[in-house]
Amino acid sequence: MTAIPIVALDFPDAERAMTLVKTLDEKVRFYKVGSELFTSSGAEVVQWLRDSGCDVFLDLKFHDIPNTVAGAMRRVAEMGVRLATVHATGGVKMMQAAVEAAGASCGVLAVTVLTSLNDATLGEAWGRERVDVENEVLRLAELARTAGCHGIVCSGQEAKAVSSRHGKALKLLVPGIRLPGDAADDQARIVTPEAAVAAGATYLVLGRAVTAAKDPRAAMEAVNRALKS
Ligand code: C5P
Repeated sequence: MTAIPIVALDFPDAERAMTLVKTLDEKVRFYKVGSELFTSSGAEVVQWLRDSGCDVFLDLKFHDIPNTVAGAMRRVAEMGVRLATVHATGGVKMMQAAVEAAGASCGVLAVTVLTSLNDATLGEAWGRERVDVENEVLRLAELARTAGCHGIVCSGQEAKAVSSRHGKALKLLVPGIRLPGDAADDQARIVTPEAAVAAGATYLVLGRAVTAAKDPRAAMEAVNRALKS
């Protein structure tokens, strides 16, 4: 089974995002709108993507009290978004509120541990001397499943452990994807598209591996080839 590629439109304005979508054209039909683009261009860019026949993953990683998250998630579902994120550390009640508000048309994904963190930096953030990222991802995945989430966001490095424990009950969205030879940038836990799929990923988020490539269309073709092989 292969995975669905989603390209992250991590741009400061809609113009640059639209240019990339037009460049990639039929190579990809699923885009991620994150906090940078949403802060500058809001619902308009989501509507433009929908009008262009693309699916939208709105990655705003909500983390607030259940009532606030539910209200935000209702607006997200009204915009026709297909996938949206909350932080699993917001707790089961918050995730349940998000799932209920998102309804049947929008899948809620719980972010477990950001792919930019490792054992040391996660321990520092949580004030704990010893912390194991994989254990924390597995623990948070359990909470996401209890809350009825569509799936979780984790790095390709923990994906195998999560998919062997939860199988199809939790879809896995894996960011931090790099083609062989790419720079890791600020990511701590990167994998290739093939490794992410082998580990059980359902969705792959392609950021700088495509958007910062000299030839984004050629980079996307390489990803698509890797996913087919
Ligand atoms: O450019 P790069 O491939 O590193 O971008 C990864 C994308 O995935 C970014 O848009 C980032 O916000 C997102 N992401 C992540 N780690 C998570 C959740 C989302 O890197 N846990």
